[in-house]
Amino acid sequence: MKTIVLRARSADEIAAAVSSAAELLRNGSPVALPTETVYGLAADALNENAALKIFAAKERPRFDPLIVHLPGREWVERVALLDAGVREMFEQLSRQFWPGPLTFVLPKTSIVPDVVTAGLETVAIRISSHPVFAAIIREFNGPLAAPSANRFGRISPTAASHVLDELDGKTPLIVDAGPTKHGLESTIVALRNNRIELLRRGPITEKQLSKFGEILRRRANSRVEAPGQLPSHYAPRTPLVLTDDASSFNPPAGTRCGLLAWKCANTARFAEVRRPSERTTLEEAGANLFRCLRELDSATLDLIVAEKFPEEGLGAAINERLRRAAK
Ligand code: TXA
Ligand code: MG
Repeated sequence: MKTIVLRARSADEIAAAVSSAAELLRNGSPVALPTETVYGLAADALNENAALKIFAAKERPRFDPLIVHLPGREWVERVALLDAGVREMFEQLSRQFWPGPLTFVLPKTSIVPDVVTAGLETVAIRISSHPVFAAIIREFNGPLAAPSANRFGRISPTAASHVLDELDGKTPLIVDAGPTKHGLESTIVALRNNRIELLRRGPITEKQLSKFGEILRRRANSRVEAPGQLPSHYAPRTPLVLTDDASSFNPPAGTRCGLLAWKCANTARFAEVRRPSERTTLEEAGANLFRCLRELDSATLDLIVAEKFPEEGLGAAINERLRRAAK
């Protein structure tokens, strides 16, 4: 299969991309699309065969459920059930954070094929705020399953070129709307008994969520419910170690060592250095994190040393990715 990358920046380009993508999606094909978090590989969520093509392209195991993106709120109760115990909380959270990088895990309705949810009784849903994604899903006029557009277990793509590196020949179309805004995958929550269970950290922080109810953090050894929680997720191929402060880290003799720097100033002993935030803001670091990891990973290094970020706000979401990359 030949993969075409279609630029979607000007109004005319966007209009052309919307019609090409919607047509492919209607024909049951997967298409790589930008979202405000990372690029996704989208396909018709109500078409089992289309959804299966996502698993094939990503080499994703069938036990790992897909996030379902909705064209609008009118779709929520067609695909998910809102029990009395969660309705009010769902309304409040979704009013505050949708469209945007927050995904809800809720009991599913029967129209969602089992392949999409990997046989689970629940479905993960979100409404993306990306203007190009929003235009395409509105034109398609149905829910789209869209996991991150990387091969399974690899770093999520935050630019069209990353998607091409991952999925060249596996999807007919990549819509290129430039680098993604947040650069980290959506926050995932499950609403249960009026509590907010935090399944994956992301752009919507724990502090933002805590205004809406009690937060339950997933215990480290509890059953893996979202395979995004598997230790080896987000992995570069190069071994990665985490350190509190790289200033005191000395690369072993004879090794080519790369640095993902947050604060460290004296970086001369590292063969390659990437600093996801020049201004030392967590938003900027989040947006550039995966690109920096990808660049370090392709620099033929023996080791990547990553400095831990402050464990607050977005820093907690960044550290969660780095800890998994380090395993
Ligand atoms: O920002 C994002 O969420 C991006 C963009 C493309 O929307 N998508 C994304 O999808 O990160 P993916 O497949 O890479 O991560 C989805 C995570 C997986 O860890 C999956 O296990 C979990 O969501 N998930 C999906 N359905 C679930 C369910 N019913 N219960 C628990 N976890 C679920
Ligand atoms: Mg992923």
